[in-house]
Amino acid sequence: MALNLKTLETAAKKGIETAQNLEELDKVFKVFLGRKGQLNQVLRAIPKLAKQKRAKTGKEANALKNSLERMFAKQKIVLQAVRGENQKAGDEWIDVTAPGKKIEIGHLHPITLVQRKMQEIFQSMGFEIASGPEIETEWYNFDALNIPKDHPARDMWDTFWIKTTNNKKPITNNRLLLRTHTSPVQIRYMETHKPPLRIIAPGRAFRYEATDARHGFNFYQLEGLMVGNNVTAANFKAILQEFFRRFFGKPVTIRLRPSYFPFTEPSFEVDMAYDGGWIEIMGAGMVHPNVLKAVNIDPQKWQGFAFGMGIERLAMMKYKINDIRLFYSGDLRFLQQF
Ligand code: FA5
Repeated sequence: MALNLKTLETAAKKGIETAQNLEELDKVFKVFLGRKGQLNQVLRAIPKLAKQKRAKTGKEANALKNSLERMFAKQKIVLQAVRGENQKAGDEWIDVTAPGKKIEIGHLHPITLVQRKMQEIFQSMGFEIASGPEIETEWYNFDALNIPKDHPARDMWDTFWIKTTNNKKPITNNRLLLRTHTSPVQIRYMETHKPPLRIIAPGRAFRYEATDARHGFNFYQLEGLMVGNNVTAANFKAILQEFFRRFFGKPVTIRLRPSYFPFTEPSFEVDMAYDGGWIEIMGAGMVHPNVLKAVNIDPQKWQGFAFGMGIERLAMMKYKINDIRLFYSGDLRFLQQF
């Protein structure tokens, strides 16, 4: 039996040391320490031994059992660590041949793109960029533009009025509103600058009107103003044609139609050939003498033209978009095309 224990110990230790992985270690464990394993067979045979050998062999067998169990436990930890490392390496495996992941970066909204293109063209023709507030006073939006209170022309611009009070009394004089066009910037600019002058003023305008494929209640305009000693409607037409040629990259068909604006005289509407018909893109005219007088510029000495064009309308024609509401829909299928 003593010899058996010695042989068993050598074989078990060798098995533990040479096990390559947890499965192999488990097999070795079953062979030597399992319920039907070799050591248990020895332990079970002890009662049959001669009395004087029983105690000694029992002690040696139990000591061997403890020492083998400790060895198994230690080797298990080692093999578990090895497996963990291998798995981690597997998880972090990188396929260097795989195509790179595309990083999505944002891009500018079509209205911004068009506005910037328009600015670039006008700036190259010597126009400066001016701006004014979106919340305007009645004076700048209407009166200074030769549209006094109760004048029927005020109906041309359905207005979002802003309720304002002074000591709980509603303000009735010089009320606030969301500007209905960018024309008030003409006044603001001419109050602080003297002619000759050449400006554009891009920005948002608001109108209390129903939306459809060509109208929004919020939209963008680009205002233009050129005042000098001898600025004529012929200059306006020439600048406009050059602008369109560069904006669309080819000559386009436009027509000037007589119209009415209280702040220009004569006034016209500019339409562009589109989709078998005409689309109105801007209002324009020669600056009315009353407007020049309102900002202390002598109309005998100075004259000029002004215009206001719809930025969405131009974008619609450039990109062949048939509904203005798409610009504000937030629909990525639309926006990602630009
Ligand atoms: C005006 O707003 C004048 N202030 C233009 C002007 C400026 C005339 C300087 C003379 C001198 P009108 O209401 O026609 O005019 O608008 C000008 C352009 O803005 C239109 O031709 C159109 O392109 C655009 N526009 C007007 N209303 C809307 C709307 N609801 N939605 C989208 N675009 C619009």
